Amino acid sequence: MIPIAVPYISDAAIDEVEAILRSGRLSAGPRVAAFETAWASRVGCRWGIATTNGTTALVAALYSVGVRPGDRVLTSPFTFIASVNSILALGAEPVFCDVDLDSGNMQADLVAELVETVNPKAVLAVHLYGNPMQLRALRALCRAQGVKLVEDCAQAHGAVTDAGPAGSVGDAAAFSFYATKNLAVGEGGMVTTHHAEIAERCALFVNHGSSTRYHHVAFGLNFRMMEIQGAIGLHALAALEEGNRQRALNARYLLDAVGTRVPVVNTPDSVFHQFTLRIDQREHLADWLTRRGVGHGIYYPAIVPDQPVFARRFRGDYPHARALAHEVLSVPIHPRLSESEREQVARALRTFLG
Ligand SMILES: Cc1ncc(COP(=O)(O)O)c(C=O)c1O
Repeated sequence: MIPIAVPYISDAAIDEVEAILRSGRLSAGPRVAAFETAWASRVGCRWGIATTNGTTALVAALYSVGVRPGDRVLTSPFTFIASVNSILALGAEPVFCDVDLDSGNMQADLVAELVETVNPKAVLAVHLYGNPMQLRALRALCRAQGVKLVEDCAQAHGAVTDAGPAGSVGDAAAFSFYATKNLAVGEGGMVTTHHAEIAERCALFVNHGSSTRYHHVAFGLNFRMMEIQGAIGLHALAALEEGNRQRALNARYLLDAVGTRVPVVNTPDSVFHQFTLRIDQREHLADWLTRRGVGHGIYYPAIVPDQPVFARRFRGDYPHARALAHEVLSVPIHPRLSESEREQVARALRTFLG
């Protein structure tokens, strides 16, 4: 079966991890600091603050821009649940904004309307599937209204919006380096920001508010990254450009195979974290692919407000997000796909679509 994602750690990274494990310097040291500097600079930001994973990066980013209990945060209902759980973890209240069918990202006109009417503290803009959400107009509106803009870049390493690289546009941004991401460490996360005060608050927050050892000047938790994560991150960063180039090539190949027969939920400027089709009765295509040895995934089978954990706490109507949750199906696009595997994926799609 061709897997939907193939986590890959280079031999050089494995050798370095072994050396670190033998060195005795395991947590937040020079490799983490170097990864913070390198990733912030790649994103075009002044500061990077490493964390344990993308979820803790989101919590730290939202906290650092000032989200507190009772605040409203606007976000997408069609995302991984971490986007919403990070808002809830701070005692804040998610308010959902429906999405565009062609990108899966929040609708520009609707989010603008909500910024003006629901009095949010912040907007958490998710760049889904590698599709950069266009943020220039939203950022201007947020600034005018005194609303903070935070980006969820867990699926958007290397993507570029109309206002600059994803992760450099908002007041702060959160990245995940989970095993299947375009920049994969296994677990890991980072907050990026241009603002010194946000960076400072964030650096304190991820380290128990500690300015010097056992001197705590602010509230915080322990979200510190390990040295082995920093080392793997630096190796993965060196391979990001080529990985994204390969994803784009694979996408072009699959787009040719699909033609105009079904819509694809990827924008032309996507970095193709996923290659995602919209299709009625997707279970037929899922069976077809399985029988032909092609792995696939559904991101996501339900919108976040409909998850059982929320027990009908959120009652809005999000018709586009619900339609996507019923129709999306993603096929392998990852950079480790061989040419023959890519052809196998394309052939399975071509023959199914007729
Ligand atoms: C959109 C989105 N936000 C947040 C996260 C959370 O990242 P992590 O799994 O590293 O905690 C993920 C990924 O898993 C994600 O896809």
